[in-house]
Amino acid sequence: MTALRNREYRHIEVHPIAGSLGAEIEGVDLSQELDDEVLGEIRSALLDNLVIFARDQKLTPDRQLAFAKRWGEIHFHPFMQGMDDYPEILEIKKLPTDKKNFGGSWHSDQQFAPKPAMGTILYAKQVPSAGGDTMFVNQYLAYEALSDTMKNMLSGLKGVNIGDNFKGHDGKSRKEFYADKISMKVKDPGDVQTTSAHPLIRTHPETGRKGLYIGGHTHGIEGMTAEESQPLIDFLMRHSTRPEFTCRFRWQTGSLAFWDNRCTQHYAVNDYPGDTRIMHRITICGDTPY
Ligand code: SIN
Repeated sequence: MTALRNREYRHIEVHPIAGSLGAEIEGVDLSQELDDEVLGEIRSALLDNLVIFARDQKLTPDRQLAFAKRWGEIHFHPFMQGMDDYPEILEIKKLPTDKKNFGGSWHSDQQFAPKPAMGTILYAKQVPSAGGDTMFVNQYLAYEALSDTMKNMLSGLKGVNIGDNFKGHDGKSRKEFYADKISMKVKDPGDVQTTSAHPLIRTHPETGRKGLYIGGHTHGIEGMTAEESQPLIDFLMRHSTRPEFTCRFRWQTGSLAFWDNRCTQHYAVNDYPGDTRIMHRITICGDTPY
């Protein structure tokens, strides 16, 4: 099945922002209760473009939550503490004194969960005067660009995705690692499962298209030694983030992005030292990858 990026819409306008993925949608006020037909068009725009953006939205936490709930149940992050009054919403906050940012490497959200997040809805509350963009990659294109031999070799292989990946780096848990680096509250996941093996080639449950399913949480391949798997993971990460598979979004206060984690990776660019960026993020539950 191929994407229809030039589909006709009756209620919204859809303007692709790059050749590979990403589109701005216009003509919709997401703070309002949307009827099923409008929601259906937004779904088509998302499935065809993989990530969609809407500007100048005026969303309270309640209205962002109401919009998110139209897509499914809310996924709670096992490591990051939600807002006091809205535990479903993660406030992604980088203050002038913070050195690190949240999401500053290529990844697909909660890939370490047995049922990773289907989608993420990110709303900009405060953005730096310059910088702080988010980049996205199209994992269908990354898959399609592989040789048939590589596709055959990967089919049937599972990547091992680890949430507390910092342990592998310097012996620290995520909580310890982040303690003096970011202002966001990191929590202990308790008994929530945070390591999961998923197919390296994933079939999208709605479009039926195959895509690479690899990201920053992928630290191994089932049945392989680290010496065997790491060069392959390194290659797949390099390959899947090639510039021609990307788009980049410049945020303004009131912008909203909605991306499909089943066929994309994203990267929050940390290029605004001394400035502030505050975003409200809601993730939507997904299914078991196959
Ligand atoms: C994330 O969800 O990884 C953060 C994205 C961003 O802040 O741009």
